[in-house]
Amino acid sequence: MTRERILQQARTWVQEQLAGDSSGHDWWHIYRVTELAMRIGKAEKADLFVCELAALLHDIADEKLNPSAQAGMAKVATWLEANGVPARDAAHVLAIIGTMSYKGGNNKPVRTREAQVVQDADRLDAIGAMGIARVFAYAGWKGHLMHDPSQAPRTAMTPEEYRSGKNTAINHFYEKLLKLKGLMNTGTARQMAEHRHQFMETYLEQFYREWEGSR
Ligand code: ADP
Ligand code: NI
Repeated sequence: MTRERILQQARTWVQEQLAGDSSGHDWWHIYRVTELAMRIGKAEKADLFVCELAALLHDIADEKLNPSAQAGMAKVATWLEANGVPARDAAHVLAIIGTMSYKGGNNKPVRTREAQVVQDADRLDAIGAMGIARVFAYAGWKGHLMHDPSQAPRTAMTPEEYRSGKNTAINHFYEKLLKLKGLMNTGTARQMAEHRHQFMETYLEQFYREWEGSR
């Protein structure tokens, strides 16, 4: 199969798999991450086939959408083989999606340039205007409050606490989103993150003003 054909098949499969998801992993998140990964990958001279394929598949194995993280990875491995992805690229894609998730900041740093590119792309879609939209969508999906002034943000947490702890949308900014700018792997993404980060800071200032009845 040609690379373009593989990518086409991947788009179709991912759209089927994530159809109807409202936890923040819907197809349009995948679309945006793929666009970002291509842009960053070009600027960073990465292997664009691996970047695009890993970006397309990066959330298929998410433990929120599978019986377990291992089961999710096995599903992707089976797909890669069935669709004729060269073994080397398949192994690389699996390594990327297996290491890139945030998990409360407890995961090891990713290694290859392509892994860095795709992780940066995923992180950019978690900040800025898009990040704000996703954080409130996720909180609604989980049944969390937008904000509760009596609940302070948690400073350190295990992966289990990160996944399951009671939380508010506003606290998630402090527990994750405002840290992402400083965690970008590539110079290209670091620059793009600057603008998105500033936008969130401005948003939070206005949020607190309105919370207290100001304009
Ligand atoms: P990752 O793949 O980095 O682990 P997640 O799957 O945890 O990311 O998050 C997907 C989206 O949902 C992100 O935009 C993230 O900011 C948001 N999100 C994750 N956890 C929470 C939470 N506890 N409260 C609000 N939003 C969250
Ligand atoms: Ni993602």
